[in-house]
Amino acid sequence: MLPRALSGADVCLMKRCSSQGVFRTGRRLVLGIETSCDETGAAVLDDTGLILGESLHSQKLTHLETGGIIPTVAQRLHRENICRVVQEALDRSGIEPSELTAVATTVKPGLALSLGIGLDFSQRFVRLHEKPFIPIHHMEAHALTVRMLHPVDFPFLVLLVSGGHSLLALAKGIDEFLLLGQTLDVAAGDTLDKIARRLSLSSHPECSSLSGGQAIELLAKEGDRFAFHFKSPMGQLYDCNFSFAGLQNQVTLAISKKEKEEGVEKGQLLSCVKDIAAASQHTVASHIVKRTHRAILFCKSKGLLPQHNPTLVVSGGVASNEYIRRTLKIVTDATGLHLLCPPSKFCTDNGVMIAWNGVERLKQGKGIMSHTEEVNYEPKAPLGLDITSEVKDAAIKIPPLKLKINS
Ligand code: KG4
Ligand code: ZN
Repeated sequence: MLPRALSGADVCLMKRCSSQGVFRTGRRLVLGIETSCDETGAAVLDDTGLILGESLHSQKLTHLETGGIIPTVAQRLHRENICRVVQEALDRSGIEPSELTAVATTVKPGLALSLGIGLDFSQRFVRLHEKPFIPIHHMEAHALTVRMLHPVDFPFLVLLVSGGHSLLALAKGIDEFLLLGQTLDVAAGDTLDKIARRLSLSSHPECSSLSGGQAIELLAKEGDRFAFHFKSPMGQLYDCNFSFAGLQNQVTLAISKKEKEEGVEKGQLLSCVKDIAAASQHTVASHIVKRTHRAILFCKSKGLLPQHNPTLVVSGGVASNEYIRRTLKIVTDATGLHLLCPPSKFCTDNGVMIAWNGVERLKQGKGIMSHTEEVNYEPKAPLGLDITSEVKDAAIKIPPLKLKINS
């Protein structure tokens, strides 16, 4: 019987014995599968990070119609699409299941019903094809995707801002993270989605197929952010945590007030949607940037970042927002950090980032399972070691920075 966790070398040996493809090329090949939220994704990568084939089914349009993700609907859509998506990724790569070195799948954190579909499919797949299994932490995968595209050494600072998460962490290794701050209520993307919904942006002709964050970014380009003033959250708390619920409240109140003034029914478009979008986007950007600024200063004060080329990596769906990226650039320029954001398609959920995390783990022989019966999904899973209270105790005051962005 094979040991429970195989080392990278063992896996290689297994492949050489059992797969002509790998014997022929010497490459290690990983199939990555993602179903943690509302994207069914799969991709086949080689161990250099070359994407051999990928496929993605987005549930975005369905969830836009229902006004948010209904977990049972997400589960049904994953179930309906997973087979086709995995088959497409394999077909496009020209790789047979027998040639794969391992299968990597998101098992945490995420929606229980969605995670369950990916894990169940993967367990059957690896059993059928007798492949090792690599369980993946979704946020670790977001944090490390950048290494597929740039040679970024550990340690580096990472900001993850998506629909489900807003966090700052120090990446020290592929499975070693220090959590510096996280959202105390809702995530940045969720807030933008809810504001977009409250503004009925899906009925705006230019926004019908866009996610909330994308719609806000698009409309904000022509809006006047000074037309509304929303208070940046947590100004008196000198930590790196985030909070967006209060902002959401402020924006909702402003919308209700405007609806009354303009005699507009709830559900109809206000004349000032672009201004509200611009002011909301700016406040989200400003909050994210201030917490990131403090995280940079904290890491510097503790000697946690390298002297040479210290780097801030930004990922997650919200990281595809150009305005937020440009605001972050002001802070990294002021603090001497190098800012890296993967292209948008790698910031949002996909199978490629999961396969890449599998490649990283395979190379280091970490977390590779020969049996999957005991692997369970975990809807809640912290990222790394939580040092948020140490950051809070340091109470670092950030110097004022002019966040002037031309949209
Ligand atoms: O990482 P992701 O694809 O899924 C998870 O939440 O894990 O992120 C999706 C989130 C949504 O809330 C969406 O509104 C937001 O990312 N988003 C954006 C943009 N594109 C996607 N937010 C702001 N600006 C964008 N361009
Ligand atoms: Zn994500």
